[in-house]
This record gives sequence, C-alpha cells and structure tokens, in this order.
Amino acid sequence: MKDIWIRQAREDDAEAITALNDAAFATKAEARIITELARDGDSLYSLVAHNDRDILGHIQFFRILIDGADIAAGLGPMSVLPDRQRSGIGSGLVKFGLALMEGAGREAVFVLGHPAYYPRFGFCADAAAPFQAQWSGPSFMALRFGETGEQAGQLTYPAAFGA
Ligand SMILES: CC(C)(COP(=O)(O)OP(=O)(O)OC[C@H]1O[C@@H](n2cnc3c(N)ncnc32)[C@H](O)[C@@H]1OP(=O)(O)O)[C@@H](O)C(=O)NCCC(=O)NCCS
Repeated sequence: MKDIWIRQAREDDAEAITALNDAAFATKAEARIITELARDGDSLYSLVAHNDRDILGHIQFFRILIDGADIAAGLGPMSVLPDRQRSGIGSGLVKFGLALMEGAGREAVFVLGHPAYYPRFGFCADAAAPFQAQWSGPSFMALRFGETGEQAGQLTYPAAFGA
C-alpha cells in the first residue's frame, strides 16, 4: 500500500467509481447500486483508495435497519482495479471503513460476499444467521462491535438492493 491513500469519495469521483466497478465485476449492477444508494440518502460512507492520480479501489457502506432502528451498516459493493488486486488495497479499505463504522456507533456490519475473504476481518456467518434478511447462508456474514448490541432481528436493506 505504498503511496496509496484512502479518502471519502467526492461527487466528481462518480464516473471513475462506475468505471472501476464495471472493470471489477461482470455486471453493471454494482455501479447502479452505488449510484442509487447515494441518490436515496442511504450511503453512510463511500471511500476510495487512490495514488493521487487514479482511483484504484472503492468500498461502499450503507445503512441497515434492525427491527426498524437505524443502528447497523452494510458493506458493499467493493472493488479493486483488476491489475491492482491482491496487493492489500481491498484489506486497507475494509479496515479503514470498519473503524469508521465502529466510530460512528454502528452496532454491526453485514456483508454478502466471498466466505474466504471477509472472515479475516472478523466477519462470520454464525453472527449473521439469527438476523432475517433476503439473504442467508455462508456468504451472508456479520461483524458485531462489542457484545451489547442486537443479536437477532429483522434487517431492512435500502431500496437500491431491491428490498
Ligand atoms: C475482492 C477484492 C475487493 C479484494 O481486494 P484486493 O485488494 O484484491 O484484496 P487484498 O489484496 O487486500 O487481499 C488479497 C487476499 O484476498 C483474497 N481474495 C481476493 N479475491 C478473492 C475472492 N474472490 N475470493 C476469496 N478470496 C479473495 C486473495 O486470495 C488474497 O488472500 P491472501 O492474502 O490469503 O493471499 C478484489 O479482489 C476485487 O475487486 N474483486 C472483484 C470484485 C469482487 O469480487 N468484489 C467483492 C465482492 S464480495
């Protein structure tokens, strides 16, 4: 991660973030979700990793309600430029973003993603299993900050996810 920095995305990053997502994913769905989260006011943090010239990676955090309370977050989509993957940029974005989520008082972060990738940051499927959502199974994981928050409940995802 030498000479790479992380900052909040700005409005004029939108085109580069769309191009990055289109390069990293097989579909345009991820870029659409990011655009709609921002439009609907459901984005909590949109972070980019950059080298002062190009945007190399992006991670999205958005609000999730537990039993109607605005106390949790979701992670995703996230992406790193294909030719810059596996050099620590994704890990840097996840760790930076999780620290922001904990600092913002979110009780938990949920992710639907690669079961081989997210557990290294503390996510696990067992923590997500007691929550009702449109997803379940080994790819649906949660990271709870501390022991005092909700351990089960109904999750409400933003409209951008087709909820
Ligand atoms: C997933 C992604 C964001 C990770 O970013 P990255 O910068 O490559 O990740 P890092 O360099 O921090 O970490 C690399 C590690 O992630 C693992 N990894 C990368 N992609 C993975 C995948 N699809 N499934 C499982 N593990 C993966 C690598 O094996 C490597 O593991 P190691 O440290 O044990 O060798 C990036 O590969 C990417 O953009 N992929 C395409 C889009 C995507 O799948 N996004 C995530 C949707 S859940």
